[in-house]
Amino acid sequence: MAAPLLLTGASGRVARLLLPALSDRPLRLLDRTAPADPSEVPAGAEVLTGELTDRALLARAVDGVDAVVHLAGDPSPTATWDDLRGPNVDGFAALLGAASEHGVRRVVHASSVHAMGRYEASGRVPVDPTWAPAPCCPYGATKAFDEAVAGVFSHRWGLSTIGLRLGATVPAPTVRSQLRGWLGPEDLRDLVTRALQTPVVAGVYPAVSGAEHPHWDLRLAADDLGYVPRLDSRDHAAAVEDDGTDVATCPPPDPVG
Ligand SMILES: NC(=O)c1ccc[n+]([C@@H]2O[C@H](COP(=O)([O-])OP(=O)(O)OC[C@H]3O[C@@H](n4cnc5c(N)ncnc54)[C@H](O)[C@@H]3O)[C@@H](O)[C@H]2O)c1
Repeated sequence: MAAPLLLTGASGRVARLLLPALSDRPLRLLDRTAPADPSEVPAGAEVLTGELTDRALLARAVDGVDAVVHLAGDPSPTATWDDLRGPNVDGFAALLGAASEHGVRRVVHASSVHAMGRYEASGRVPVDPTWAPAPCCPYGATKAFDEAVAGVFSHRWGLSTIGLRLGATVPAPTVRSQLRGWLGPEDLRDLVTRALQTPVVAGVYPAVSGAEHPHWDLRLAADDLGYVPRLDSRDHAAAVEDDGTDVATCPPPDPVG
C-alpha cells in the first residue's frame, strides 16, 4: 500500500476545494478544528485534531508519510504579527523539522501572492517568481519567511520543498480585485498534483489561473511543473462586483500627511 499523504489545514476552505484531487491515495488529515461536514472526509482518511506546534502530534502526523501538503495557517492579509506567529511561523518551522526528522520526501506548502505584493502595488508586473520576495503586509512577510525556511530545509537537510504562491482560491471570482489573482479549483488541483510529482527538489511558483497572465509570470511554473492554466478569470469578468481595485494583493498605503 502507498505511503499516506498528510494534508494540514484539512478543515479549511482551500483544502475542501483540493480534497477531490487527493482521494486516490491514503490520506491523513490534520487541523486544529474537526471537519465541519464529516461527509466531506474521504473514505478511509485518518483525522488528527490539534495544533501544528504540538510536537508529539506532529511526530504522529508525519510518521510513515511520503509527502505533506501544508495548508494550515492564518490566511488573513490584515492579521497582526501576534496572530500570525504561531500558525505561520512557529507552526510551519515545526512541521518542516518533524518532516525532515521522519524522512518525509516532499512538503508542498501554501505561500501567497502577498509574498510578492509590493511589486504588484508598484506596477512592476508581471512579477517574476525569481525576484527577491517583497511582501506587502505582515501576512505576506510570514509567507516569505516560510519560503526561506523551506529552502533552508531543502539545502541543508535534503527535504524537497515546493512553495505555491496561491492567489484568491475560491470557486469563482466574486469581486473585481479577484480577477487578477484568482486560482480556480481545477487549476489548484492540477498545480498541487504537479507539485507533488515534479523532479524539481526545491522551488517557489505563482499559483494563479489565466493564460498569459498580466500580473504573474507563469513561465517558470510551466517549465518546472508543466503547469498551464485551464481556467481564466476573464470568463467571470462580467459577473463580478466592483470593489474598486484591480490589484490582488494589498494596495499601497495612503500617503502620510
Ligand atoms: N484562500 C485563499 O484565497 C488563499 C490565498 C493565498 C494563500 N492561502 C493560504 O492557503 C492556506 C489555506 O488557506 P484557507 O483559505 O483554506 O484558510 P482557512 O482559514 O479556511 O483554513 C486554514 C485551516 O488551518 C487550520 N489551522 C490554522 N492554524 C492552525 C494550527 N496552528 N494548527 C492546526 N491547524 C491550524 C484552521 O483551523 C483552518 O481549518 C493558508 O496557508 C493560506 O495562507 C489561501
